[in-house]
Amino acid sequence: MVAHRCVIFKILFIFLLCGSVICANSKNRQQRGCQIKLPTDIPKGEPLYLSGNPGRFRLFKPINQTNHLAVNSKLTLFCPGRRNTLLNSPNNSTELTCGSGNRFVNENGHEVNLSQFNCTRGIEGDLHMTREKCSSNRGYIYDIGFRIDSRNFLTVFKVCYDNSSETTFFSTHHINGPVVKYFVKDSRRRNFKTTGMSATTKADKVYNKKSQIDRFSDIFGTQQIYINNSMHLSRGHLTPDADFVFPNFQLATYFYVNVAPEFQSVNGGNWARIEFMARELASDYKSDFTIYTGIFETLSLPNRLGQPVEIFLDSNHKINAPKWFWKVIKNERLDAGIVMITLNNPFAKRDEIVEFCPNVCKRASLTSKHFEIIKKGYTFCCEVNAFKNVVHDLPRNFTAPNLLECAKANYLFDNEVQLQ
Ligand SMILES: *[C@@H]1O[C@H](CO)[C@@H](O)[C@H](O)[C@H]1NC(C)=O
Ligand SMILES: *[C@@H]1O[C@H](CO)[C@@H](O)[C@H](O)[C@H]1NC(C)=O
Ligand SMILES: *[C@@H]1O[C@H](CO)[C@@H](O)[C@H](O)[C@H]1NC(C)=O
Ligand SMILES: *[C@@H]1O[C@H](CO)[C@@H](O)[C@H](O)[C@H]1NC(C)=O
Ligand SMILES: *[C@@H]1O[C@H](CO)[C@@H](O)[C@H](O)[C@H]1NC(C)=O
Ligand SMILES: *[C@@H]1O[C@H](CO)[C@@H](O)[C@H](O)[C@H]1NC(C)=O
Ligand SMILES: *[C@@H]1O[C@H](CO)[C@@H](O)[C@H](O)[C@H]1NC(C)=O
Ligand SMILES: *[C@@H]1O[C@H](CO)[C@@H](O)[C@H](O)[C@H]1NC(C)=O
Repeated sequence: MVAHRCVIFKILFIFLLCGSVICANSKNRQQRGCQIKLPTDIPKGEPLYLSGNPGRFRLFKPINQTNHLAVNSKLTLFCPGRRNTLLNSPNNSTELTCGSGNRFVNENGHEVNLSQFNCTRGIEGDLHMTREKCSSNRGYIYDIGFRIDSRNFLTVFKVCYDNSSETTFFSTHHINGPVVKYFVKDSRRRNFKTTGMSATTKADKVYNKKSQIDRFSDIFGTQQIYINNSMHLSRGHLTPDADFVFPNFQLATYFYVNVAPEFQSVNGGNWARIEFMARELASDYKSDFTIYTGIFETLSLPNRLGQPVEIFLDSNHKINAPKWFWKVIKNERLDAGIVMITLNNPFAKRDEIVEFCPNVCKRASLTSKHFEIIKKGYTFCCEVNAFKNVVHDLPRNFTAPNLLECAKANYLFDNEVQLQ
């Protein structure tokens, strides 16, 4: 009798448990496959996540905070680079399969968690020169991304670069709007690489404050007022690190071909605000955004006689400080775009600033009370077509017939805090 009751109780217990927790859970999982949740499932020093098969790998592209891989689908984890392997493994890659239990299983059939796989070393981005012309045939497209093997290179973003004058015209990438706010934080910093540039250019030497002071003293005399400890030219990212979700992609932006000299008060002022706006817009519209970031004209500053002198950081006149930084922000789904343009001259007088295409910031409701503050980088906005009439860097077939407007009413980008 007692035994009998116990059995009934056990059956009842299993039935209840199955009805409420375990079975519901496994049913749920059945439909969902294996999960990749951002940023929690991504370990420090993560490998590259590749979808597809060897020879046809693609960079895994998340579509939401939680991503579901169907049962039987595969994800390859890869640690490229010299003497780099997966932690606690002699191998530099491993293929995971989403098992029927909705957990990833490794090549030996064991259930594993994504967060247990990282690389022994940081992954270095690389640069791949192509023969594709850009910027009215003045430059070549350089792909920046990861080399998988001798035949396969996976691109994260592109730069249009003239290898004879050593000038970058623009950089282009995409912001993954639905996912960008779930980016994986990483405190690692990386030295900028001079890959792709001539060894004589010495981009890595000219940005330090001491050499800037020396350079400006040569041009303007030792009494020059432009460069001191608080005012100097920084490495202004064209494609910014913070637009990418994975730290490996963020760190791959650290190439000199992806920067131009930008006054620090502008770089940390309205330029940071524009980068923030681009991410906010992509995130608000939950859409893939195409971004082009470039420079226009060379900055001149007056000497003691009031004559304008063009600014180059090096005596060979290769690395010029641009007068303008511009960023095209395009919502692909709406075929809508806008160009934000910032003056890289904290010393300009208001009456010498010429907006070279009609200002549409107000019409697009993309305004900030900081845009008119010259020290932070005087900023205005144009429609893509009007901008293309003046600046001839964008591909001919790149268009955005509609004006991109702010997704939220009265959303002002006035905060000083949390621009990252
Ligand atoms: C991988 O994880 C281990 C253990 O947490 C850590 O010591 C190592 O620094 C990580 N690798 C990288 C490249 O950050
Ligand atoms: C993204 O995830 C959220 C939360 O899980 C969900 O509400 C939303 O529908 C998902 N979006 C898409 C496009 O799947
Ligand atoms: C990965 O390991 C394989 C086998 O050891 C080796 O042939 C290959 O060169 C490595 N790949 C990289 C990018 O280091
Ligand atoms: C490393 O790769 C070899 C060859 O593919 C495989 O036999 C071995 O199991 C792998 N080792 C680990 C730890 O995954
Ligand atoms: C994977 O993660 C789950 C939940 O965090 C944990 O219960 C499980 O033990 C982990 N498995 C491995 C192999 O680390
Ligand atoms: C620039 O790159 C192109 C294409 O790769 C190449 O043909 C040309 O020789 C290079 N010029 C210089 C000056 O390096
Ligand atoms: C640095 O130069 C800027 C611009 O000329 C000037 O406003 C600032 O007062 C200077 N700072 C110091 C510490 O000299
Ligand atoms: C523009 O043309 C290039 C090369 O001709 C092509 O690769 C690219 O996909 C085109 N872009 C658009 C937006 O049509």
